Amino acid sequence: MKTRILFVDDEPGILDGLRRLLRSYRNEWEMSFASSGQEALAIVAEQSIDAVVTDMRMPGMDGSQLLNELARCHPEIVRFVLSGYSDDEMIIKSVGTAHQYLSKPCDSDLLKAALSRALSLRKLLHEERLLALVSGVSSLPSLPEVYLEILETLRSDGASLRKVGETISRDPAITAKVLQLVNSAFFGLGRKISNPADAASLLGLDVLKTLALSAGVFSQFDQNKISTSDFSLAQVFDHCIAVGLLGKRIAASEEAESNLVSECLLAGTLHDLGKLIIVNEYPEEYARMRLMAKGEGMSEYLAEKEILGATHAEVAAYLLGLWGFTDSVVEAVAYHHQPGLSSYAEFTPLTAVHVANALEGAAQANERTAPCAGLDMSYLEASGLADRLESWGRLRESARDSRK
Ligand SMILES: [Fe+2]
Ligand SMILES: [Fe+2]
Repeated sequence: MKTRILFVDDEPGILDGLRRLLRSYRNEWEMSFASSGQEALAIVAEQSIDAVVTDMRMPGMDGSQLLNELARCHPEIVRFVLSGYSDDEMIIKSVGTAHQYLSKPCDSDLLKAALSRALSLRKLLHEERLLALVSGVSSLPSLPEVYLEILETLRSDGASLRKVGETISRDPAITAKVLQLVNSAFFGLGRKISNPADAASLLGLDVLKTLALSAGVFSQFDQNKISTSDFSLAQVFDHCIAVGLLGKRIAASEEAESNLVSECLLAGTLHDLGKLIIVNEYPEEYARMRLMAKGEGMSEYLAEKEILGATHAEVAAYLLGLWGFTDSVVEAVAYHHQPGLSSYAEFTPLTAVHVANALEGAAQANERTAPCAGLDMSYLEASGLADRLESWGRLRESARDSRK
């Protein structure tokens, strides 16, 4: 069946350009075109559409309003922004509502690759075995209120470090957890930080925002309610923070764009969230999975697939998809143990999370594991990034030394 894509732009010239540019895909894609948000919603209400690619600045209903409406009424549709404006304001407005951002003029192969990646990710997240697993979960964690408030503060005019700090401070439990992290060996700041605004000015808003998010997500789980004795919530939390921070350093060392660096941090700090859901909801299966992995010397994620039908990586990706994070973040989490399943052969958040996870895993295993255990070398070689490994390893070493 053909993929049905709707393009929305108020400039007729742009739509004509897209029509011409994408002519060669007409055997694979069924394309519709709308000149306004309202027209787009009318088309979506009548026809079944797989993906919407919209401009941001349009008179009447703008792109961000259209995306909000689509997210609310047709969450199954893939939402893309194709914008000519690189100003952050419109992008920030649509955070949480678009799956991916592309900028005009857009190369047709790039658009095609991005769309097929988004659609195959959706296919994975709708696979029956995964849905069966998550539908058996009594309550999935929710996106923390404080995080939504931070995004809201950032969207408003005059957002400042102080305002974001105040937003976080309104939640004392999360503030305490964030300050504990900020003052921990992870950051080695050398002086005591006693409020979120100071933490933001030292570490940056992005780091603080993500720490508040992960603290808010992890605090929805309780170690005392976990019946399996060989699972430490604190250990998984620390590992996730370490992977997020190392992923961010790796991306920065590759001189990645700031958006991509943020996605590496975000995906890293939540990559093993699925483990918490599994151990809470399926304790017996979790125990069997551990035995199987140990007994047969196999990776835990493969044993999870055998016993539960899906992996912790897929469970977390499903949840992050529901929460509206971008495809790069969802993909990084979904494939963090098997990056070869992604169709991208370049540096993405998946690369950073996969490598940081393997390096941090080796560090945690006290060098009992070979330094490359868990690394997919053929993926790194195919991406032309295998020779970067040594310098990424050094980043981990220096992060670890500063934590001592
Ligand atoms: Fe994992
Ligand atoms: Fe991990």
